[in-house]
Amino acid sequence: MRPIEVGILGGTGMVGQHFIRFLQGHPWFKLTWLGASDRSAGKKLKDAAPWRLDGDAPASASEIEVSDCKPGNAPQLVFSAMDASVATEIEREFAQAGHIVVSNSRNHRMEKDVPLVVPEVNPAHLSLVHAQQKNRGWKGMIVTNPNCSTIVLTMSLAPLAQFGIQRVIAATMQAVSGAGYPGVASMDILANVVPFIGSEEEKMQQETQKILGGVANGEAVPLNARVSAHCNRVAVTDGHVVAVSVEFKSKPGVDDARHAIEQFRGMPQERNLPSAPQKPLVYLSQQDRPQPRRDACRDNGMSVSVGRLRECPVLDLKFVACGHNTIRGAAGAAVLNAELMASEGFLD
Ligand SMILES: NC(=O)c1ccc[n+]([C@@H]2O[C@H](COP(=O)([O-])OP(=O)(O)OC[C@H]3O[C@@H](n4cnc5c(N)ncnc54)[C@H](OP(=O)(O)O)[C@@H]3O)[C@@H](O)[C@H]2O)c1
Repeated sequence: MRPIEVGILGGTGMVGQHFIRFLQGHPWFKLTWLGASDRSAGKKLKDAAPWRLDGDAPASASEIEVSDCKPGNAPQLVFSAMDASVATEIEREFAQAGHIVVSNSRNHRMEKDVPLVVPEVNPAHLSLVHAQQKNRGWKGMIVTNPNCSTIVLTMSLAPLAQFGIQRVIAATMQAVSGAGYPGVASMDILANVVPFIGSEEEKMQQETQKILGGVANGEAVPLNARVSAHCNRVAVTDGHVVAVSVEFKSKPGVDDARHAIEQFRGMPQERNLPSAPQKPLVYLSQQDRPQPRRDACRDNGMSVSVGRLRECPVLDLKFVACGHNTIRGAAGAAVLNAELMASEGFLD
């Protein structure tokens, strides 16, 4: 297979850099193009933006000259890590011009004809792009991945959907890297918890219903379940933890629920996609796990760890889940979406 050239909209930003790093050595995708604002356009990446991640910037990416975010000379497949204030229009322009935009930005996630996909959970939602192209007269398309805390919640709930999810209460403990750079002021977060992350609770509630819902007549149909999220920023570098209580139509026993979590596999595993973790969910039986420092990087940051599954005296069952927010919750999620799309023939 010849490598598929890819670009990154917002390639100079914090999430853009996570994409650059995640794509290094990818067996299918070759990074050849970076787009950013006119502050960066015309400069090589190494001169446009300081490298914010551990280690050095990959040498090949450092030499790429950053372009304006205008369709034209970009590859057909572009990942988007655009600033949310400009992503709406720029992503639309690219899709209209025939590009496949695989976006990590929040802007289009909740539109009814835009797939919001977690490949192990709702790969069938990709079919929404046909309605999207018809509705909008686009040659290209926009496909999105969820917010970094939503992906941890939906992956851990997916194997339990068979028991009929009715109500969910989820409290997050979210790492500072989820706020980008420079993120939360050090004076606010050191030795502290900040019990507010703007718009995060609404995103978590609505995106979870959309992802766990279905598709009918070219539109996403949200799951008819009530979801309540409490979102908190904590003094952790990487890895979001979510404490979840769930009520079911048909309550499973703890052992049945654990078995469902341990057996959970999806299309990425069946198709052996390059970024797919062997096990999307890893159940940990130690009483004090999962923990972000010990568990977020499991399987290259692509699997979600689950533990502490037990009876809930208010709803039915409760558990704790943990995932890497900038890998499974951002760049890795979008790259796995693109791999799924390639395996479905969208990039032929
Ligand atoms: N940070 C996270 O962990 C995280 C997690 C999940 C989702 N997200 C989402 O991912 C997106 C990017 O977040 P981030 O933290 O990477 O932001 P960021 O570091 O501020 O980067 C924003 C990127 O957008 C570009 N940009 C800004 N204004 C532009 C314009 N007018 N035209 C073209 N490009 C423009 C910037 O280019 P210049 O360098 O030239 O300014 C930069 O490449 C946001 O939508 C955010 O909500 C972030």
